[in-house]
Amino acid sequence: VTIHRGDYAPLEWQIPDIALDFALGVEQTKVSAALSVVRHAAAPAPLLLRGDGLTAAEVRVDGAVWNDWRMDGSDLIVDLGDRTAAVVEVDTVIAPASNTQLMGLYASNNMLCTQCEAEGFRRITFHPDRPDVLSRYKVRMTGDKATFPILLSNGNCVEQGEAGNDHWALWEDPWPKPSYLFALVAGDLVVNRDSFTTMSGREVELGIWVRKGDEARTGHAMKALQDSMAWDERVYGREYDLDLFNIVAVSDFNMGAMENKGLNIFNTRYILADPDTATDVDFDGVEGVVAHEYFHNWSGNRVTCRDWFQLSLKEGFTVFRDQNFSADMGSPPVKRIEDVRLLRAAQFPEDAGPLAHPIRPDSYQEISNFYTATIYNKGAEIIRMMATLLGPERFRKGTDLYFDRHDGEAATCEDFVRAMEEGGDIDLKQFRRWYEQAGTPRLSLTLAQDGDDWSLDIRQAVPPTPGQPDKAPMMMPLRLAAFAMDGSGATLPDTLVTLSGAAQRVPLGRFASRPALSVNRGFSAPVIVDFERAPGELAWLAAHDDDPFARYEALQQLMLDTLVAAASGDTGDTQAVIDAVAQTLAGAAADPAFVAEAVLLPSEAFIGDQMVTVDPDAIRRERLALQAAIGVALESEWRAVLAGAAPPATDLSSKAKGGRRLRGVALAYLAATGQDDVPALAFGIFSGADGMTERQAALATLAHGDSDERAHALDIFYQRYRDNPLVLDKWFQVQAWSLRPDTVDAVKALAQHPDFTLANPNRVRSLYGAFSGNQAAFHQADGAGYRLIADLVIALDPKNPQTAAKMIPPLGRWKRFDEARGAMMRAELERILAQPGLSRDVTEQASKSLAG
Ligand code: ARG
Ligand code: ZN
Repeated sequence: VTIHRGDYAPLEWQIPDIALDFALGVEQTKVSAALSVVRHAAAPAPLLLRGDGLTAAEVRVDGAVWNDWRMDGSDLIVDLGDRTAAVVEVDTVIAPASNTQLMGLYASNNMLCTQCEAEGFRRITFHPDRPDVLSRYKVRMTGDKATFPILLSNGNCVEQGEAGNDHWALWEDPWPKPSYLFALVAGDLVVNRDSFTTMSGREVELGIWVRKGDEARTGHAMKALQDSMAWDERVYGREYDLDLFNIVAVSDFNMGAMENKGLNIFNTRYILADPDTATDVDFDGVEGVVAHEYFHNWSGNRVTCRDWFQLSLKEGFTVFRDQNFSADMGSPPVKRIEDVRLLRAAQFPEDAGPLAHPIRPDSYQEISNFYTATIYNKGAEIIRMMATLLGPERFRKGTDLYFDRHDGEAATCEDFVRAMEEGGDIDLKQFRRWYEQAGTPRLSLTLAQDGDDWSLDIRQAVPPTPGQPDKAPMMMPLRLAAFAMDGSGATLPDTLVTLSGAAQRVPLGRFASRPALSVNRGFSAPVIVDFERAPGELAWLAAHDDDPFARYEALQQLMLDTLVAAASGDTGDTQAVIDAVAQTLAGAAADPAFVAEAVLLPSEAFIGDQMVTVDPDAIRRERLALQAAIGVALESEWRAVLAGAAPPATDLSSKAKGGRRLRGVALAYLAATGQDDVPALAFGIFSGADGMTERQAALATLAHGDSDERAHALDIFYQRYRDNPLVLDKWFQVQAWSLRPDTVDAVKALAQHPDFTLANPNRVRSLYGAFSGNQAAFHQADGAGYRLIADLVIALDPKNPQTAAKMIPPLGRWKRFDEARGAMMRAELERILAQPGLSRDVTEQASKSLAG
């Protein structure tokens, strides 16, 4: 069944109050739900309550047993005659321990927890389970004291008591919320407690709940939470609205985390961190996700979504908020580089493939498939563009208006844009096309000259995507500048141009010769820019542009041009790249984090994205060759980077993180030279490291080779961390990332390892997710990589369809590869689709991928 955005209609019934009563058990939990329903439609209408895998033991209306109900598939329809209000009670029994989907109420390490977004609440009890039904919840739970010493839900604990071996708690959340924000946790947990005083002087109790033994690794998350609370007050004027804010960390979790009101539930990966077990990237991940979920309290919870087509209303805006928070906590240019790298790695390919969809989709079969880089990351870019067009003051006026006007409501993307228009006093009529049209726009640039007067001609085209053959041009902010390269000092200073037409000319001013153009500075618009530039011009910009992001872009473009030429059988300008890297590297002492990002070669996937037909083997060969050439030419520089002492692992300043990152990059360049002493050098770093960033970087470098040190280091790492699941994930991951030619077989073997399990999504991602991102391995010419992923999807789908479906997109990119590979990829998609009893999740992803 396909759900269409245009079919939205308000529900006939609202449910102002809900009381839930849980008799907890890991094997079996009894749920009694009392829904106070009120009819809003004028005419009588039956009450449709969604269910998924539930049976109703008994239905009561206003206290009396009620027989006027029937099942419609898995849903419950209660006929309430001409009543306009009633209390409808339904009893169900669920089995948390056998809930392998990790949606609804499930067991993880003997504790019970929930995940309800998007449609998991219907796996707990019958309910409309749509985000425009907002209710006040009272949750009572009873369970064995020894098994479940801690009982948590949304809001505040208002009563608790004991009864024999059992105890119970009553939680009340005063804020009306949609069912997807419901949460319950019961288990043996310990807490890291702290507090935060809000801007109006209210004291909020903070708690981060983890399994015993993990509490020492919650400090960074706590600090991130406090920083986020202060930041949202300062930047958006948003204050927290309950006396309690709890976070629980869970090992088995489909996504990163969940913003349940007052009771966030997190993947342990985004809570637990200490220098011995977490890398700098992990620390930043914790900070960013804690902030993201906290910011949802306003952008998502206080103002929620009317329907799931509006998902980007909360996700795009919240990603934009967490990106800016992280930028403020660290280095803004480096954060921007990371965000753009992620957009290009995850979202651009999605936008160019069979699963392309606008940030506000028009239809879906399974909403879980739409928690995508497009909804999240492109969605954030769309908000960013509005912020750029409005400027900080008017943007803040717009967000104030949005929050005030829609507080307590289930809103739409249109509501957000209208608040921007009114608050920012701007016409965004044409800008709305960003919500409707999929596909990454391409800007084609040419310089035009009239004597000494130069101008820039810009043509805009949005490519066709499935179901959208014809596109209209879109409004976007394009930041640019121009510089004379002749030493005359002539410049066009940073200028914001608003594009809207298919073709536009921008005057640049007077230059005696062709100026160097700095374009899409700060990545002001999420587009692909086609602009032919000589290596000398890119090298000049890499050295002289005053926008750090543009300097990074210029060097990346220079590398990319060289690599694409080489992988297509032409010769690239290797020397220009080496010179530019050397030049950039000279600034390493001042800003190691930026330099580390800038001198990193583009990924194999991104190189492939620039080619008419992706040639994974040529890309790997040429990228390794360029890496070796840079390694050899600048060998003494790389050795000098590594000769100094690493910053202490406990120092998490941007500078220290940057220093470690640069050391990792230096080691990779040195390793590419193939010099004999490198394995021993890497092993020395591995053994002597005082933290996980250096240790993992050295291990990853060793994992590409076949030295004795490789085997030794992998063994040491395994023995040391075999009881720490998050670190063991890294052990699987570095092997799946390996550039060795036998990686497909290695992954196959690792899947048989006693520590591998399909039951844990983190473990699945660390092996198979890492592998499918390893371009030359996944696309091995005999198709073994495709088979491996298809086998995984088939094995995982019956247990966890959501995570299984996430593995399909790499197989859907068959149009981008040669005929032989394309045919094998399609054959695997067909094999998946031929499986009996396939989930809706996998069916949608595989059939759309096959259709192309
Ligand atoms: N709203 C959560 C987060 O951003 C993600 C929940 C995803 N759930 C799912 N079933 N796909 O931040
Ligand atoms: Zn989110």
